[in-house]
Amino acid sequence: MNEEIRKLLKQMTLEEKARLCVGAESNWATCAIPRLGIPAVTMYDGPVGVRREMAESEGDGFNQHNSYPATCFPSLSTVSMSWNVEAVGEMGRLLGEQAQALGVNILLGPGINHKRTPLGGRNFEYFSEDPYLTGQLGVHYVNGLQSTGTACSLKHFFANNTEYNRHSIDIKIGERACREIYLAAFETVIKQARPKTVMSAYNRFDGSFCSENKRLLTDILKIEWGYEGVVISDWGAVHDRVKALEAGCDLEMPYQTEESAASLVRAVQEGRLDEKILDRSVATLLELICELKESEREYKLDLETGHEKARELAAESAVLLKNDGALPLRTDFCVIGELAETPRIQGAGSSRVNPYRVSSPLTELRNIYGNVAYAKGYGANEGELAEVLADEAASLAKSVPAVLFFAGLDDKTESENCDRKDLMLPPEQIRLLEKIVAANANVILVLQAGSVIEIPCLDKLNAVLFAGLGGESGAEALADIVSGKISPSGRLSETFVAKLSDNPTYATYAKDPERMSYSEGIFTGYRYYDSEEVEVAFPFGYGLGYTDFVYENPVVSGGGDEEFVLSVEITNAGNMDAKEVVQLYVGKKDSKVQRPKKELKAFCKIALAAKEKKVVRLTLNQQSLRYYDETARQFVLEKGCYELYLNKNVSENIAVLPLTIN
Ligand code: BGC
Repeated sequence: MNEEIRKLLKQMTLEEKARLCVGAESNWATCAIPRLGIPAVTMYDGPVGVRREMAESEGDGFNQHNSYPATCFPSLSTVSMSWNVEAVGEMGRLLGEQAQALGVNILLGPGINHKRTPLGGRNFEYFSEDPYLTGQLGVHYVNGLQSTGTACSLKHFFANNTEYNRHSIDIKIGERACREIYLAAFETVIKQARPKTVMSAYNRFDGSFCSENKRLLTDILKIEWGYEGVVISDWGAVHDRVKALEAGCDLEMPYQTEESAASLVRAVQEGRLDEKILDRSVATLLELICELKESEREYKLDLETGHEKARELAAESAVLLKNDGALPLRTDFCVIGELAETPRIQGAGSSRVNPYRVSSPLTELRNIYGNVAYAKGYGANEGELAEVLADEAASLAKSVPAVLFFAGLDDKTESENCDRKDLMLPPEQIRLLEKIVAANANVILVLQAGSVIEIPCLDKLNAVLFAGLGGESGAEALADIVSGKISPSGRLSETFVAKLSDNPTYATYAKDPERMSYSEGIFTGYRYYDSEEVEVAFPFGYGLGYTDFVYENPVVSGGGDEEFVLSVEITNAGNMDAKEVVQLYVGKKDSKVQRPKKELKAFCKIALAAKEKKVVRLTLNQQSLRYYDETARQFVLEKGCYELYLNKNVSENIAVLPLTIN
């Protein structure tokens, strides 16, 4: 604690200290204490755009989504499919600059919870089903954001993996799965990027609310990981302010009534709460406030640059799932589907951004190809008949050599505060797609969603492009890919299961309204499908492009002590510039404990011009080989032989190389 903070703390009354530990009445700031010159710092959502709300007098009435225009980047589920950590870092930096320009000190994000089931209603706000990928993306996002003087709020700590009864559900996870999967990305980001704030989740973990859970907030986060920043509660997640403070929750958000601060005062006066605990939180908060005020900078709100960078990210993130040569589109075609005209660019809930400028795929395709015929197909409004729309679309489909069909989810199906019921597209879209594939043999499906879809008519489709939730410039990015200006280079960050019941949580998910037990342990996502050889629609890490890459001479060097380097020569054999994601997984067949067949431990994305060759080096350290030993209560390294899988995706090996640890 520095001298300035010590002095301030001494001057504060008990009431002032307690009041600082609860947000300001405005909902989106800490409480200022003018008597002592303690200013307020502001905080707004996050995580893919700055949702700075307008005051009642500025907009057309106070409403949660009445915010200043800002760049709406693709959803985190989408940018994670870029596997491009530098680009995600750049997104973080631009978000930080826009936050400063809009007077925001803390941006509430990123969400880095593990995707345990594809039903998770907020999966669009999270990165991935792999803690290593999530951790790396999280580190770059936070570093980029915080380099601008804006703080992040890493959320939702902890085990907020679904929305089902999120305000009360009690989550049980075995210690090994906690350490290797659910805590892993948090640990990486906390230790490597030092987020200035962490947001505690709504749910319970091991019987107590995360915002009141001492083991989580103090024992693991603050003591074991050495976290020195501020813990902020999720909005309304505190039930007992005294208990939460004792557990390590420094700031309760938002302000609800006077009672919260008053309960802290009473607890100190009655000897139930040690004032030193209150002082510790107040000092941490004062440090944050001083630091954020000092680091305020004058940035111009540059929405044009934001739009352009969001476009680049959307283009890097779209995943080409299937292509029988239909893409890039070089024939006459028509466009079918309302989502081509009114795209879904982001998920629903608190992360909603008021985008700066949104175009539509239809407009962007017409800019490139001229007058493309269009039929809405589904989404009938009052007065329109669904059947008439579908018939119009089918007769248009018969009249052209190819159809670009737009499908996807809506805000009701995929939103904060509720999980999905299944992985299907809306029934009217499925019915229409069946009609269209019967009418035309060359159908290309473009999907807009923040999570996994069971793709209907898959074998009858000539190409499938998963565009995710592409943000405000997703339409321009999509047109660049469809027309062949850019080769798609996204890779799945979540497995596309063949059917929902293949997911390892299927038997346990939402069976009990009170609690959920993660009984599949570490065998989550691809760790389960790959180890148990469950056939999936598209595996983790999967994605096609318009060129082929040739891998030659993979070699592992080092291995003596700490670090190993896998190097490989990669050539872009195609005629256009393209990007490849090089993936390295590790397994240990003869392990004395059960382990997934392979786990992602290193990756990189490289850009190669047509015919260009590069040497790629991926570094691994011994830490990546460890597993969590529940008896020893620590990560341990087994000696012996490991397999290093140099892969296109988790299922497709290019080479398997042995590695021995002596
Ligand atoms: C969400 C948080 C969000 C907060 C403020 C909560 O309901 O869970 O992610 O940051 O609201 O809008």
